[in-house]
Amino acid sequence: MLILAVNGSARQRKGFTQVVLDRLLQGAAAAGAQFEVIHPAALDIKPCLSCWQCWFKTPGRCVQNDDMAMVIDKIKAADVLVLATPIYIDHMSAQTKAFVDRMMPLMDFDFEPDENGRWRHPSRDGFAPRLVLVSVSGFPERETFEPLRVWFKRFARNFHGTVLGEICFPATVALQKSIEPAAGHLDLTEQAGRELAETGAISGKILAGLEEEYLTSTEYGQALADFRQAARAKLDRLASEKK
Ligand SMILES: Cc1cc2nc3c(=O)[nH]c(=O)nc-3n(C[C@H](O)[C@H](O)[C@H](O)COP(=O)(O)O)c2cc1C
Repeated sequence: MLILAVNGSARQRKGFTQVVLDRLLQGAAAAGAQFEVIHPAALDIKPCLSCWQCWFKTPGRCVQNDDMAMVIDKIKAADVLVLATPIYIDHMSAQTKAFVDRMMPLMDFDFEPDENGRWRHPSRDGFAPRLVLVSVSGFPERETFEPLRVWFKRFARNFHGTVLGEICFPATVALQKSIEPAAGHLDLTEQAGRELAETGAISGKILAGLEEEYLTSTEYGQALADFRQAARAKLDRLASEKK
C-alpha cells in the first residue's frame, strides 16, 4: 500500500498536525505500507484560476506551471490519500484549500447524478480515492471540527472517493505544555495506521476511541494558565522595550 499524506499546516514539520501524521504513518509503515508526506506550504501550489483549461484545453492538466502537476501524479499513484490540516478560523488552512481546488483536473467536465440523484462531475480515468482526514485545533471543543467534517464527506462525494476515517485532535495549545492527555489517542492513531495498511480500512472501534474526550474544558483552562501568564509577561516586556 502506498499512502500519500498532505500536511496543509503552515508550520509544516514543526506543528501538531505532523505529530499526528507521524504516528499514523509509523503504524502503517510497521505493517508494511510505504508513504510519502508533502507539505503544500513548502511547494509552489498556486490557487485555482477557474479558467477550466484543465477540462477543455489541456484535459487532465492545469495550465499553471507549478508543483501541482508533480503532486497530481503522486495522488494518482497512491492507494490512500491522507488529507491533514490544522483548523484555521473554523476550517481548513489556505494551503490545504489551494491544494484541494487544484485537484479539479482529476474530474471530468460532464455532469451526472450520483446514487442519490445529486449532481456531480464524473471522475477522470476512474479516479476514486480512498481518503483519511487528519485535523488538529487549538481550542478543546470537538464541535470545532464539524464544518471540516461535513466538508470532507462532500469532498469525497465530489471526487467519487471513500472516507476511511477522520482523526481529529483538539486542544493543541494545551498539549504544548504536555502531550500526556493525548498519549492514548496517539497510540490509537498508530493502531489506525497499522489497520489501514493491514486491512485497507480503520475499524469502528478505533475510530470511536479517537472520538473520546482527552481534556475537559476545565483541564484545558488549567493547562492554559502558564501559557497565558507567559504570553502576557512577554507582551509586557516587549511593550516596555518599545518605550
Ligand atoms: C490563522 C489561524 C487560525 C486559527 N483558527 C483556529 C480556530 O478557529 N479554532 C481553533 O480551535 N484553533 C485555531 N487555530 C489554532 C490551530 O488550529 C492550532 O494552533 C494548530 O495546532 C495548528 O496546527 P499545527 O500545530 O500543525 O501548526 C488557528 C491558528 C491559526 C494560525
